[in-house]
Amino acid sequence: METLQKSIEECNSVKELERLRVEVFGKKGYFSKEFAKLKELEGGEKISYAAKLNEEKEKFGELVNAKKTFLEAKEYEDILKRDALDVSLYSKGANIGALHPVMDTMDKITEYFASLNFSVEDGPLVEDDFHNFEALNLPKFHPARDMQDTFYFKDGALLRTHTSPVQIRTMLSQQPPVRMICPGAVFRPDLDLTHTPMFHQIEGLVVDKKGAVSFANLKSILEEFLKYMFGDVKVRFRPSFFPFTEPSAEVDISCIFCHGSGCRVCKNTGWLEVLGCGTVDQNVFNAVGYKNCSGYAFGMGMERSAMLLHRIPDLRALFEGDLRLLEQFK
Ligand code: PHE
Repeated sequence: METLQKSIEECNSVKELERLRVEVFGKKGYFSKEFAKLKELEGGEKISYAAKLNEEKEKFGELVNAKKTFLEAKEYEDILKRDALDVSLYSKGANIGALHPVMDTMDKITEYFASLNFSVEDGPLVEDDFHNFEALNLPKFHPARDMQDTFYFKDGALLRTHTSPVQIRTMLSQQPPVRMICPGAVFRPDLDLTHTPMFHQIEGLVVDKKGAVSFANLKSILEEFLKYMFGDVKVRFRPSFFPFTEPSAEVDISCIFCHGSGCRVCKNTGWLEVLGCGTVDQNVFNAVGYKNCSGYAFGMGMERSAMLLHRIPDLRALFEGDLRLLEQFK
């Protein structure tokens, strides 16, 4: 039995162990031979030797099973070790991509407003007339509709021309106070140095009780934001018109290229226009059924900001997928 025990210990694989088990239990194996000896024994001796053999048989079986469990676990572990794939391993040849400059700019702006407790809302790209125009105080045949050329579908649906319809959707599904931004793609049929048929905007809307939100709040939040985006720039609010805000303003920053002295990018004005804004027009609140509220809204083009931040002269370059441009943003 000791020899048997030793043989088990020496087994290094499940296969070897199985061979040993077959050998020991087999016709010519240890137990066959020993049981054969019983024929020559008599009486008490026979009984006690048989008992001893049965005990040994049982013990051998147990030892083999225990060793088998051990070897199986070990072999499994070896396989895991051998086939392991270290995903954190540094690879010299790895060609890591980068965020597209427009997405990067959008993330940067979204993070800024999210940190000020603005919720991030979303809306459909295919809109209807009500959300994109009507509810935003742009009734049919209103001349201000010409400000935004529009892609229409045959059934009257349209590709949203701005992210402002998400203001309407949010107000229709939420009660004031509202504090939201909406980044996303918008569409207008234009194509030249500074326009592409698809581009991105980020919309902001803050609504609270009447008198709680003012143009002064809008000014201060945008001034802080523009300094975060563009560094130490001067900010100027110019009276303007949007149907959904009253009063409305366009916001300029001092040119980040010439610092105000005049250059090609700012067309020698020293200023760059970066966003539109205003306090929410009462007609918009009427359209969504908000009573006794005040609010402000702003909208900003992402491509324009990305172009300014990264000094990209032609907006169309952002959509051509040219790796020579994109690789510079790794
Ligand atoms: N929706 C306007 C545009 O696309 C921008 C804007 C948004 C202006 C919110 C005022 C308030 O030009």
